[in-house]
Amino acid sequence: MEFSDALRRRRMVRNYRPRPVDPDTLERVAAAALRAPSAGNTQGLAVVVVTEPEQRRRIAVSAGEEDYVAAGFDPWISRAPAHIVLCVSEEAYHRRYRMDDKVGVDGEIEWPVPYWWVDAGAGLMAILLAAVDAGLAAGFLGSHALGDLRLLLGIPAEHTPIGVVTLGHPAPDRRSSSLDLGRRPRDQVLHWGRWGGEPPPLPPETPTAGGCNEIAAPDT
Ligand SMILES: Cc1cc2nc3c(=O)[nH]c(=O)nc-3n(C[C@H](O)[C@H](O)[C@H](O)COP(=O)(O)O)c2cc1C
Repeated sequence: MEFSDALRRRRMVRNYRPRPVDPDTLERVAAAALRAPSAGNTQGLAVVVVTEPEQRRRIAVSAGEEDYVAAGFDPWISRAPAHIVLCVSEEAYHRRYRMDDKVGVDGEIEWPVPYWWVDAGAGLMAILLAAVDAGLAAGFLGSHALGDLRLLLGIPAEHTPIGVVTLGHPAPDRRSSSLDLGRRPRDQVLHWGRWGGEPPPLPPETPTAGGCNEIAAPDT
């Protein structure tokens, strides 16, 4: 699948058919998180893949799925044949940035932005796009909507579960009210040269398609 198609087709799907996900495909989708960039190559992400029905049901209970269903939504969490719980360790970033090649005279950097959350987002997007690429659908339930999964899944204290990716073969779902917000107009979000700047005129000889395939890293 073309990257642009995967990007365009991706949407949060909140209902699934009961058909299981092939184990090799599931591993490939979950492992996509490991291909995401990370600050200082810290690689502070980890995933827990859950397919066992009783464990998925417990996750759904922790998400208050009963209340969703009572409000007319599908039981999309327990129904999804696979869950990928994405975790990140802030501590791993502090350890990395105290290493000789990163630490400055004043010690660890001031963290103007907490890069562990940046990297978690990059890992999440990699998983979501890998799901579309595999012909599957995925949804995401943020940690605000879940109980603490640490105990349920034996996640070590230094890792924070950021949410659950639900994965499976799509079924018709009820539209989220969040989509009523629509997409923000491009000119409010995309600025050129400076905030509020217009795009420069395109010189006639400028190629319009990228040609960077030759620098893609070999697949491992
Ligand atoms: C950090 C984060 C947390 C989210 N939490 C939830 C959630 O708890 N429940 C839910 O139904 N969707 C959740 N979503 C999905 C968003 O509602 C969805 O991405 C947004 O409405 C845009 O829709 P689309 O992804 O289908 O384009 C979350 C998305 C992100 C990135």
